[in-house]
Amino acid sequence: MENRKWWQNTVVYQVYPKSFADTTGNGTGDIQGILGKLDYLESLGVGAIWLTPVYSSPMVDNGYDISDYCGIDPSYGTMEDMEELIRAAKEHGIRIVMDLVYNHSSNQHPWFQESCRSRDNEKSDWYIWRDAKPDGRPPTNWRGIFGGSAWTWCEARQQYYLHTFAEQQPDLNWENPEVRQALYDAANFWLDRGVGGFRIDAITYIKKPGEFLDGEPDAADGMVSVHAMTANTKGILEFLHEFRREVFDGHDIFTVAEANGVGPAELSDWVGEKGAFDMLFEFSHMCLQFPEVETWCKECPWKLTDLKRALSDSQKATAKNGWYPIFFENHDQPRSVNQFFPHGGDKKLAAKAIAAVLMTLRGTPFVYEGQELGMENVAWDSIDCYDDISSHGQYELALQEGFSEREALSFVHTYSRDNARTPMQWTAERNAGFTSGKPWLPVQEGYASCNAAVEDGDPDSVLNWYRRLIQWRQGNEAVLCGAYEELLAESEEIYAFFRSSGNRKVCTVVNFSLQEIPFPDILPKGARRMFGNYAEEKEGCLRAQEAVIYEVQE
Ligand code: GLC
Repeated sequence: MENRKWWQNTVVYQVYPKSFADTTGNGTGDIQGILGKLDYLESLGVGAIWLTPVYSSPMVDNGYDISDYCGIDPSYGTMEDMEELIRAAKEHGIRIVMDLVYNHSSNQHPWFQESCRSRDNEKSDWYIWRDAKPDGRPPTNWRGIFGGSAWTWCEARQQYYLHTFAEQQPDLNWENPEVRQALYDAANFWLDRGVGGFRIDAITYIKKPGEFLDGEPDAADGMVSVHAMTANTKGILEFLHEFRREVFDGHDIFTVAEANGVGPAELSDWVGEKGAFDMLFEFSHMCLQFPEVETWCKECPWKLTDLKRALSDSQKATAKNGWYPIFFENHDQPRSVNQFFPHGGDKKLAAKAIAAVLMTLRGTPFVYEGQELGMENVAWDSIDCYDDISSHGQYELALQEGFSEREALSFVHTYSRDNARTPMQWTAERNAGFTSGKPWLPVQEGYASCNAAVEDGDPDSVLNWYRRLIQWRQGNEAVLCGAYEELLAESEEIYAFFRSSGNRKVCTVVNFSLQEIPFPDILPKGARRMFGNYAEEKEGCLRAQEAVIYEVQE
């Protein structure tokens, strides 16, 4: 691949600003906090920061409910801070990637405020309004993604509006060209300020079906997930192509869209030359427990072969067309050490094993804040300790399904989005050095040893493992663009694959089990061990959670 773009050779780091670094002592992170950590991010070797929303917001969903697409929320700072961040990051070789939340706005957005006032104002069809059923019930039995009906009644209009997520996040009406233009204008505003790309939120929901019909209930509440009824509706690609033409084309940026509901088989319509985006976050490898609907209390067991199949399918689907964003964590997911090693084991070995896969698959790796330290899940005593709106919805749903409070809480422990949102662990000092005040979420217990300062000075730390892997990766053609070939596809213990370019090969071998097993006969002659999460090699076997990366020159 001769003409690779900058973002195909880079590693992206996701910052969740509320939890990253607080400079004011108010307990929530801010843009100045990010500015203060640019040296750290440069030393990690990343070339872009995906910044989750910092726009003006009532913060019902931590900024995914936007009330001004071109304004900065005062809790994060000012527009000057943001401009400074874009400029200073560039000096560190880092581009800033903004999050576009375009399926919905906040209900406090002036557009919605006007839309809900009457049925005949200028913005009256900027959102999705429908009459009640004859008996007054919502137009359909769709359940919002955070629980409860996806419809909320508006007294002034005597109508319901649709919200795929919380009731404070009304869905925008993409059928209206004025709405689309307003959204494109906002994205262009950020391009003019020099951002390096966009992550596009919840994009699979923007197109609604022609007819709104009740669905077969999927739980005891008599409702069906709105996801099943509206995700990836036919006709969506037309909107997306227009979006690309009006905003992205002609800029040296990348786009990565969150596309729940688009499987590997459809990837080529969505990404690449004919697609709308450069990359797509699809979730087939992240939702192994939820093959159908993400209802936490309906989790299913998964096997390593399920994970490998999902990853290999995505690798194959983007082999010739498009590009893959490799990720095992983000602000909506549990910590990867818990998610992918659910039966325990050593968390440091686990963190390094996941990093070995992340850094050697084909695509652009995305590292979520704290992942590079090996941060873990939390388990708080009561649902009241949780901030995450979806944790509350899922907890209620579990109770409705007949689970006890203790059981409902255990699902929250495993899947809560707060697992990923606890403060970033900078030092072993109070509040992990995140804030001098009271952090908005408690700090995770393990911070005394799992923090950036301690790990910086420990050559064997997860942090230094990430740094070395990233540095090595940047100069390795086989890893950057080589072909992917899975080995031992049927193994329930080992994930192994080759990446090959010309006469060079890289081979990644990871034992996901907690047992020592014989080393498989897969390595070509002359393979050199480049990285291992155990200090020394042990002839003939792979130890519990062992991860090794080899290089071969033929
Ligand atoms: C996406 C975001 C998530 C948010 C939701 C609604 O899934 O990643 O954090 O709650 O969209 O905007």
